[in-house]
Amino acid sequence: MRIPIIAGNWKMNKTVSEARELVSEFIPLVKEMNKAEIVLCPPSSALLPVAALLEGTAIKLGAQNMHWESGGAYTGELAPAMVSEFANFVILGHSERRAYFGETDETVNKKVKAAQSEGIMPIICVGESLEENKADKTSEVVTRQIKEGLKDVNTNLVIAYEPIWAIGTGLAATADGANSTIKIIRSVLAELFGKEEAEKIRILYGGSVKGSNAVEYFSQSDIDGALVGGASLKADAFTEIVLAAQN
Ligand code: 13P
Repeated sequence: MRIPIIAGNWKMNKTVSEARELVSEFIPLVKEMNKAEIVLCPPSSALLPVAALLEGTAIKLGAQNMHWESGGAYTGELAPAMVSEFANFVILGHSERRAYFGETDETVNKKVKAAQSEGIMPIICVGESLEENKADKTSEVVTRQIKEGLKDVNTNLVIAYEPIWAIGTGLAATADGANSTIKIIRSVLAELFGKEEAEKIRILYGGSVKGSNAVEYFSQSDIDGALVGGASLKADAFTEIVLAAQN
């Protein structure tokens, strides 16, 4: 049995005071909901204050990125040991980082290794663009991203399948379609780690997930939760998604 994960990727949103407000509102709403692991991924500036608010709750904290080097002259970056001071998870290879910040399968791979050796659980994002989707290249793209991104790593990881065309567009993938691609991803994981190990790895869906479509995703055989953007910025909207994972 894979325990679902509902992770909120706040992206570049929320000042510290806004973050505090959101988290303080959210904590009591999900207090009784213990069927899924909840992970909040605020911007770096809010990691420490959010960590303080989450103390004593079951809610986990994640960073949105980190560098693979252990320290040194890398202006603007956070080292794995810095992230692990607050966070249990780190999102790696998000399509926005691949598109705007030069993230590649190779840098993702370095970061996954660094996260694992620091004891941080990486949430590795994969997914195809609209053009790739239209050209029937989805399987090829996610297979490459998984094989290259997960070279020589262990199974302490979470995958998020986020079709780029579904992110922030309201144009969510069908539950059925997302499940089919996630099955392909799981078969690639089976090639890498063996079938039994692949069955234990959580694979999330991300892309315009909200309260009204979450149940459909979570009732699929291979979807183990969600990586949520927009709907994680409001306590009630995010709670609806957590609630959908309770059954
Ligand atoms: P939206 O939920 O806003 O579509 O964003 C998804 C995402 O990119 C989460 O990482």
